[in-house]
Amino acid sequence: MFCKSIPEFGPEGARNITRAEMIALLRPLARRMLFSKTMALYLVTGAAGFIGSNLVRALLSEGQQVRGIDNFATGKPENLAGLESQIDFRESDILDLDALRSAMEGVDYVLHQAALGSVPRSIADPVRSNRANVEGTLNVLVAARDAKVRRLVHAISPYSVSKLAAELYVRTFYRVYGLPTVCLRYFNIFGPRQLWDSQYSAVLANFITRMLRGQTPTIFGDGEQSRDFTFVGNAVSANLLAATAPVDQVAGRFFNIATGTRISLNHTVKLLKQLTGYEGPIDHGPERAGDVKHALADIALAEKHLGYTPAVAFEEGLRRTVEWYRNRTQSQPSSLTVAG
Ligand code: UD1
Repeated sequence: MFCKSIPEFGPEGARNITRAEMIALLRPLARRMLFSKTMALYLVTGAAGFIGSNLVRALLSEGQQVRGIDNFATGKPENLAGLESQIDFRESDILDLDALRSAMEGVDYVLHQAALGSVPRSIADPVRSNRANVEGTLNVLVAARDAKVRRLVHAISPYSVSKLAAELYVRTFYRVYGLPTVCLRYFNIFGPRQLWDSQYSAVLANFITRMLRGQTPTIFGDGEQSRDFTFVGNAVSANLLAATAPVDQVAGRFFNIATGTRISLNHTVKLLKQLTGYEGPIDHGPERAGDVKHALADIALAEKHLGYTPAVAFEEGLRRTVEWYRNRTQSQPSSLTVAG
């Protein structure tokens, strides 16, 4: 119950204040508590996907409220196994604007991870990739704008037309509607729960699962191509920083999320042989259509404005990832099959 009077802070000493005055006095504090890190509602799109499900886990362990949507195009229900009672999960597609509007109700922060990745996929079916990555993102932006969310963090991978278009829309929504948006450019994120059993699986998930099962991996090209392979934990912390960093530091900006280190595929294979114990052969195939030879990110802006740092280095991330897939293989041997 409220007291009739409370001492006012300050040199003037105490004076009687009314209940209404007291509520007014407490309102900023209540707002801060309501919107403080511990009480915010996060909407994760692509929540059952590789990065989305890692994000959901991190948010829950920080005591946040989480709502997730996924259409299971590339995400898997098992990625959220055991978390069902802790999150408000809805199976829906970001192409369904009505479902998005409903999912957006009461949301503070949107972490938009839903996308169709893979360069070969976008070459094979550019219309589908465009629809999910551009139209889908536009829907998320419109629903977020209308729900007046506090901030939207959009994650993309570079060098793809549909993702570049989405990125421009995201920035435009900040400039035109004042919706605070932040773009994160992911560079070859890898780690636990990454899809391994699709023809569009990323190279590390593919190679690790193959080596653990004694199956031969295939290097496309000479193996001297390089990537800025980045452990998923770094992408998770970048999202949390992007959602909470001072708005004037980050809104309307793009940040590279990577480690700033160039690692060749050949070097990676050497490390993976040690970590997995694989001693079999390595096949070589023709270079892949649309492949980029080298990708290396400058992370200075993310370090400066987001306070981002790639806390988990490549080799440590690789070790943790191999460990995760090894445990998975041992606990569910029949479900870990590698396509192609
Ligand atoms: C990745 C993302 C893509 C994103 C891009 C930019 C995935 C699946 N793709 O593409 O969405 O736009 O980063 O950040 O995450 N390779 C082999 N053998 C294999 C598979 C791949 O040698 O069995 C080679 C590829 O030819 C390529 C390298 O490994 O040179 C990496 O391939 P991949 O993991 O598909 O990633 P990116 O093409 O870099």
